[in-house]
Amino acid sequence: MTLLEVKELKKAFGSRNAVNGASFSVRRGEVFGLLGPNGAGKSTTIALICGVLKANSGEVVVDGFRVGIDGANAKKLTGIVPQEPALYPTLSAKANLRFWGTINGVTADELDDAVNRVLQVVGLADRADEKVAKFSGGMKRRLNIAAGLIHSPKLLIMDEPTVGIDPQSRNHILETVKNLKDRDITVIYTSHYVEEVEYLCDRVAIMDNGEIISEGTLPELLEQGSQFQELTISVNTVPDDIEGAIRALSHVEEVIVQDGQLKLVTSNAEKVLPLASAAIFELGAAVSEIKIKKPNLESLFLKLTGKALRD
Ligand SMILES: Nc1ncnc2c1ncn2[C@@H]1O[C@H](COP(=O)(O)OP(=O)(O)OP(=O)(O)O)[C@@H](O)[C@H]1O
Ligand SMILES: [Mg+2]
Repeated sequence: MTLLEVKELKKAFGSRNAVNGASFSVRRGEVFGLLGPNGAGKSTTIALICGVLKANSGEVVVDGFRVGIDGANAKKLTGIVPQEPALYPTLSAKANLRFWGTINGVTADELDDAVNRVLQVVGLADRADEKVAKFSGGMKRRLNIAAGLIHSPKLLIMDEPTVGIDPQSRNHILETVKNLKDRDITVIYTSHYVEEVEYLCDRVAIMDNGEIISEGTLPELLEQGSQFQELTISVNTVPDDIEGAIRALSHVEEVIVQDGQLKLVTSNAEKVLPLASAAIFELGAAVSEIKIKKPNLESLFLKLTGKALRD
């Protein structure tokens, strides 16, 4: 059953189409991944779903309530974990949550229980009375998640919740998201980390230039790219015109230079390898390592957009 329906959503800032006709649906109880590079339109889409921004056209329906018309009802059902943590550093964790609870309509007699419940969910119960200014980046992110859950939403939208934090906090957040499923909370998980999306998400939408360019379960998406392989070629130096030279070879679908390596999507690795080695040699460089991988979300993304997910 569908919990969220996004139809033909459009939002422009001046002449820039940040969201350009995006459509997707999220089913009740799933973790839905929204995957896209910087500037794809993920945060803008989220702001439109939450009613923080007004769309130029299109429709967002949360559990039958239309955002912009039944906005108050839709808002009650939706929790948001923004990309930048929205917390007051001089207040304690508990005081922050009481604030967000009150803003989101939690009544005074429910507030203590709600605060304790969400502190448990994110594993910060023992730090409840400490000032947020003393929290690590990862703890702030976890408190940010608690704030999104304070009014018991059915849908929690998380905007890149693990960017710039240590691996331990990251794992903690991933496990928290997994556990939300058992609490009957539907999650939209926005990220440009393929591994997180592969680990967490039941279904995934790939967003680029404000549009959803593919949507499905992980096996469904990978099937789209199953005739391709990802080749990573490490070179001793990266010649200026290498990208164009490799792109011109037959069987090369896409190529980018990233972290001093060439990443290729190809339909025939065996044929491409000797050709690519020769082209690299001709430009005065040498191959130091070659890896061939099965298609994954990252190579599918490269094939679909010609871009890397990460800068
Ligand atoms: N308030 C705004 N005013 C003008 N342009 C904006 C505004 N917000 C977003 N944009 C532009 O809209 C496009 C989409 O931005 P958005 O923040 O939605 O992308 P994103 O997918 O969340 O990217 P990131 O991964 O970097 O967070 C970008 O080109 C951005 O510069
Ligand atoms: Mg964003």
